[in-house]
Amino acid sequence: MLASGRGSNLAALLVARDCGDLPAEFVLVASDKATAGALRLAEGAGVPTLVLDPRAYPDRRRFDLDLFDRIADSGADLLVMAGFMRIIDGDALTPWIGRMVNIHPSLLPKYRGLQTHRRALEAGDREHGASVHYVTAELDGGPVIAQVHIAIKPDDDEQRLAQRLLPLEHRLLVAVVADIAAGKVSLDGDGVQFEQETLTQPLQWIEGRLKAAS
Ligand code: GAR
Repeated sequence: MLASGRGSNLAALLVARDCGDLPAEFVLVASDKATAGALRLAEGAGVPTLVLDPRAYPDRRRFDLDLFDRIADSGADLLVMAGFMRIIDGDALTPWIGRMVNIHPSLLPKYRGLQTHRRALEAGDREHGASVHYVTAELDGGPVIAQVHIAIKPDDDEQRLAQRLLPLEHRLLVAVVADIAAGKVSLDGDGVQFEQETLTQPLQWIEGRLKAAS
């Protein structure tokens, strides 16, 4: 996993593993921030950690290539980005296409980048949500695997909206990673595959499970 922040998504994945809902082994949690809560959580769970400081590298590309070399050395099959707040060099990413997912707090393709909750509120949207997508060189632009929707309430502000969405993000990410681990979800040249079918729309998190949109 790659994380720059508090690590609540990592916590959700670890709980799911401990409950037997996620058949996955955690081989590395890496961060660009020594203070990331995700690192403390990983240490507490006995997961190896890695911190690389981007300021120690001459440029972004050299940082990314080193980071991704070390991730490859960990033996990871799948790389999960949860709140890793950096744009990644295309060459570093290429070997991971189809093996790297990101959770993003918006209904992509809406609101790529930052401040997604504020932008949804400012636009007067009636619904908001989160997406898990395969990572490509295009920022928040890779094929979307699954989404969860929530209604925006009249009294929502940025913080309330983020708070209501976060637990759903956790469930969405756990469900997608579990389905990838089980071989139900993958990426090929035609797009996202779900149970041997090419998705024409993202899966939806509805009533506690992932469903193909009808
Ligand atoms: C999550 O809300 C995730 O959707 C967001 O960062 C948060 C990480 O929380 N990701 C992005 O904004 C990516 N552009 P966490 O550190 O508690 O898992």
